[in-house]
Amino acid sequence: MSETTAADVVRKVEEAPLGDLVRISIDEVQVQMDSYLDAEMDSASFYRRWEKQQWAVQDLDFSADVQQWTSLDEGQRDTVRRTMTLFFIGEQAVTDTLSPVLHAAPHEDERIFLATQIADEARHAVFFQRFFDEVLEVHGGLGAALRAVSPAATAGFRKIFETHLAEAVDVVRRKPHDRKAWVEAVVTYHIVIEGYLALSGQRSLLRFFRAVGLMPGFYTGFTAVARDESRHVGFGVMALRRRIREDPELARAVTLKMLELAEPTVQTVVNPDNRLRLPDPETTQPDMRQSPLELRQFSLDQTGKRLRAVGLSDTTVDEVLEAYRGNYEKYWSLYEQKQGVEHPVRWYQRNLA
Ligand SMILES: [Fe+2]
Ligand SMILES: [Fe+2]
Repeated sequence: MSETTAADVVRKVEEAPLGDLVRISIDEVQVQMDSYLDAEMDSASFYRRWEKQQWAVQDLDFSADVQQWTSLDEGQRDTVRRTMTLFFIGEQAVTDTLSPVLHAAPHEDERIFLATQIADEARHAVFFQRFFDEVLEVHGGLGAALRAVSPAATAGFRKIFETHLAEAVDVVRRKPHDRKAWVEAVVTYHIVIEGYLALSGQRSLLRFFRAVGLMPGFYTGFTAVARDESRHVGFGVMALRRRIREDPELARAVTLKMLELAEPTVQTVVNPDNRLRLPDPETTQPDMRQSPLELRQFSLDQTGKRLRAVGLSDTTVDEVLEAYRGNYEKYWSLYEQKQGVEHPVRWYQRNLA
């Protein structure tokens, strides 16, 4: 992609009103995300984009989605619903945990940006609640819907949210002047949960709906969510870069936290406890295939770019990514032991070898 084209894509994504997002691909949102790693980006740049990129859940129209949801086959509905459920619970969890990070952010411009992010996360939770109510028929308001779906949280997901995120944020709440604690919370929240897990999950869901050409209401809202998440992750990278510039020792805290989260993160992605109901790749059209190898590479590449933008050395980034890569092999094998069937990744490994 030439430089002018990338700049055009970024402008198109940044300036698209809500109604136009149905025509934007997640790959285009990704080009925009990459542009946010630029060292010139500061809190004010992210804040200005937030002002321009407002959207309203109440403007979405799910009437076509209600019709089209039933046209997916049962396996597809099951897979998609599981992912959506984790997003719904996740958006609520991140809404509820960001305020100590805002309170402890050392600079006013960072607190201003984080205030916009809390509003975004609240909107994302409301987006899912409305979608679950109108399309998936999980009724009863926000609290009741969350209580209904929360038992579906998986083991890896619980480790990340209930243990790692909750504990990291709790230390920040108790010790707001502890820069290392703040850095560890931002790595957990912005780099791993929003960057590694959410943006990768968004890519799979949006690619799937784009390939089948369905669910325009969800597609529009979820692309708006992905555009918001790009700002959040961009801010996280910028803030960590700034902390390390202020105190180079903090680079080590970033590395150690990334290594600590490798296992639960990959466990969340692979989720060996859940039998995958994917169509046989052999008989699936190439554009409908979702290769676990490709998804792993995407997540590793994106995370690597962000960690380098934070200021970690190439050697350190390679060490971190190796820890993540190795855990996939471990959890794919564990899936096979638990489920007694071959993991779908093996077909891709054989056919791409
Ligand atoms: Fe969010
Ligand atoms: Fe976010």
